[in-house]
Amino acid sequence: MIFTVVLCLITLFLLYVIQKRPKNFPPGPRNWPLVGTLPVMIGQPGDNHPFNPLDRLRQKHGNLVGLFLGIQPAVLVSGYENVKEISAREDFTYRPDITVVQHKMFHYEKSGLFFVDGEKWKTQRRFTLRHLRDFGFGKQSMDHYIHSEIDILFAVFRDLMAKHPEQKETGHDFLKVLPAVAINTLWYIIAGEIHGLENEHFIRLTRLVLKFFRLGDQTSPVPIYRLLQHIPFINNNFKQQEKCGEEIMTFIQEAVVRHVDTFNENDMRDFMDVYIREMKKDSDGSFSENQLISICMDLFLAGTETTASTTTFTLRYLIKYPEIQEKVRNEIYQVVGKDRLPSTEDMPNLHYCMAVLTESMRHSGVTPSTPPKSTVKDVNFQGYNIPKGCMMIVNLRSVNMDEKHLGDPETFRPERFIGPDGKFRKDEKLMLFGSGTRICLGEPFAKNTTFIFYTSIVQNFKLEAAPYGPKPSEVILDGFTTAPEPFKMTMTALN
Ligand code: HEM
Repeated sequence: MIFTVVLCLITLFLLYVIQKRPKNFPPGPRNWPLVGTLPVMIGQPGDNHPFNPLDRLRQKHGNLVGLFLGIQPAVLVSGYENVKEISAREDFTYRPDITVVQHKMFHYEKSGLFFVDGEKWKTQRRFTLRHLRDFGFGKQSMDHYIHSEIDILFAVFRDLMAKHPEQKETGHDFLKVLPAVAINTLWYIIAGEIHGLENEHFIRLTRLVLKFFRLGDQTSPVPIYRLLQHIPFINNNFKQQEKCGEEIMTFIQEAVVRHVDTFNENDMRDFMDVYIREMKKDSDGSFSENQLISICMDLFLAGTETTASTTTFTLRYLIKYPEIQEKVRNEIYQVVGKDRLPSTEDMPNLHYCMAVLTESMRHSGVTPSTPPKSTVKDVNFQGYNIPKGCMMIVNLRSVNMDEKHLGDPETFRPERFIGPDGKFRKDEKLMLFGSGTRICLGEPFAKNTTFIFYTSIVQNFKLEAAPYGPKPSEVILDGFTTAPEPFKMTMTALN
């Protein structure tokens, strides 16, 4: 008995020492033994956004909030100036050592793009971006492939309507295949392959990507502490996520092996080939097969989920606001007409359509925070001490929903992006793709793809809530990113 009491006291004392708030750490909620500040970071009844608990902490403690994810210190960074500074400073470009699938498969070596740091990150990011661009990434030359995917999507819409006309009353699940058509154009640049919608394995993989994102939690201590990854119940989400990740990785690994086996120095078919050529030249081993698999995994994950969710969110707003949908369609008819699909070339002339997409991205906030950042040494920030290894949760939502700057951030109002001359005006104080050195690598590609997808759909179909089905859900799903809850709708072909 005495032994147990003494052991408990020693454990509590050790926890107190380990978990003690570092000197001059930003203010924050009470730090409980073992669980840290996690109890105040969970949602409450009535919340309408997964970030509401962090919104409350910011309101109470200010733009820098000191937190503890279990025993891991973290700082919630909010407000335009702070987020901009953190994103620009070299000492905050690091990512914490979080166990992602790649880490585990490659013996905990950091790899890919999201979770590598320093020189490795700079070299790999530069190389990836340059060579993806050579294959048309984010360029007008991709329009052709995007349009082919849209033709496939429209065929699915028409097929559903023809086979199940009765569902016009209750709504069709039209957007089920959107993630697959969204990733296909990117996968073509990466691996030179286009997968048809009859390829059930590919469709399954895109669904696994969505599941992978929904199971994620930016503020969970499980990916940080390997010990927790072995504790049943606590490791539930993590284990499921690992399973999804491993299946996706296997698909990518097989594509890399096929490329290695059929590599021809004189015929660079896609990004994988160019990377393999670099691997053969590289003497210090920084371009490796594992690194190639990890980069492709990062691109596959980031490229599928974010693009599909952004397009789906936009369509959901257009169902909710039919007058905005009508305005979008009228502009498309005036500028593009009805006989061809909108393209990237039209973007500078489709001012209202641009404003709607930007407002949809701002209001829905697919990425309310960046992937976590971290410090590799003690750092001073805004007069506070941020200890080595502290995790930085960079609050993009605080920027994109800033009341002082926007006035009415909760209102969906595309007109805020239309200038007095009637043209689209960019708001330099928004951070839809992050900011600074780690800014989203896929920004131009994502903008072009989501723009062409959503405007093409509106050009060709009228979207409505089904007369006898539920209205599209307003729920925003949580995870690594946020996503709209899947919904059914009615479509009427216009052309
Ligand atoms: C609407 C769609 C998208 C949104 C809203 C989005 C948003 C973001 C954000 C907020 C970040 C973090 C920036 C930071 O850490 O400061 C990021 C990083 C990244 N994104 Fe995207 N993204 C989108 C689409 C894409 C696509 C299509 C790709 C790939 C083709 C992509 C690839 C990446 C990569 C590789 C990074 C990590 C960059 C690094 O750490 O250096 N993203 N994205």
